Amino acid sequence: MLHRLATLTAERESGQLLRRLRTIDHADGPWLESGGRRLLSFCSNDYLGLAQHPQLIAAFKRTADDEGVGSTSAHLICGHRREHAALEEALAAWTGRDRALLFSTGYMANLGVLQTLLARGDLCLQDKLNHACLLDGAQLSGAELKRYPHADVAAAARQFSSRGGAAALLATDGVFSMDGDVAPLRELADLCAREQATLMVDDAHGLGVLGSDGAGSLSAAGLGQHEVPVLMATLGKALGCAGAFVAGSASLIDGLTQLARPYIYTTAMPPAVAAAALAAVQLAQSETWRREKLAASIARFRRGAAELGLPLLPSSSAIQPLLLGDADTAVAASRHLEQHCLLVGAIRPPTVPAGKARLRITLSAAHDDAHVDQLLAALETLPAPAASPRRV
Ligand SMILES: Cc1ncc(COP(=O)(O)O)c(C=O)c1O
Repeated sequence: MLHRLATLTAERESGQLLRRLRTIDHADGPWLESGGRRLLSFCSNDYLGLAQHPQLIAAFKRTADDEGVGSTSAHLICGHRREHAALEEALAAWTGRDRALLFSTGYMANLGVLQTLLARGDLCLQDKLNHACLLDGAQLSGAELKRYPHADVAAAARQFSSRGGAAALLATDGVFSMDGDVAPLRELADLCAREQATLMVDDAHGLGVLGSDGAGSLSAAGLGQHEVPVLMATLGKALGCAGAFVAGSASLIDGLTQLARPYIYTTAMPPAVAAAALAAVQLAQSETWRREKLAASIARFRRGAAELGLPLLPSSSAIQPLLLGDADTAVAASRHLEQHCLLVGAIRPPTVPAGKARLRITLSAAHDDAHVDQLLAALETLPAPAASPRRV
């Protein structure tokens, strides 16, 4: 088996698809130090610039001073602290759901929900571009998994038609993690209502960023708990912390508490993380200027990129992918930017389909106009074809 693994790794390497780990020695807002160099990052998911906010740090330190570091146990033994309870209440209120349940990571939350809700014989429809953990959760559940072409509601409707009497769940990213576009949530909700199917939305990249109060893509689309009974979102992106939650009806949360294995059989997140996340929720709600600043940077970047003729995908979110095609071109572009002291990740297959390698550029409220201009200036120097105006 180890030999087989080594062969697979070598195959990745020969296809220029090897992933390399980079150690960050120090983070200072959007600036990262690595290997003795200072790089301006456009690849983090800290969309609101909260990860180093003094109020998060103070809440974290205060709780660590009072309660120690580890939660010492699973939630259902003695790991569920008042910091967790307070955070769950705040998340439920913010997202307009009855209750919320914390998980240690978003990956585990999605595995937990899908394994618990779905059973063999059920049907699970998923957007082709959904995040890996939604796909893994459906596969673990033993339900039949069908993937519809990206954002194609009519195709999803056709996939329902062969369902017979099976119970069905449709799961979608709210904001797609590699493309940055928003799912057709209203249409999917209507479809699920017609089909009496359960709709689940993973709003990892929408929470904090979308909606007038930052409550995410469902709030922006005006969809409540009745239309979208299962909402999952993470705390490690716009909220600058770590962990995730599922929000919905009391019966959903009670059922997950009893039956979701990734909830039951794991150590609860450190209470200091929960305290920091609560501070982040409060800031995400009250400091609306963060969303405004982010939106201004997105607009500035898109304007500049259009002037340069760069092949940006049509996204209005903080995720602004620059489509480059083959993996080699994407890696070369990322290296080129690094020579200009900019850190932008090259995303290659299998994370994205073959021929759709890209730079996944992410913007943050921590970026200033000068940062965005620095990125645009470096992109202008990218070797063709990316910077060619004829390729828009
Ligand atoms: C859409 C989506 N869902 C879930 C996850 C997993 O969340 P976590 O990093 O908290 O495990 C991610 C990214 O990490 C994501 O992009």
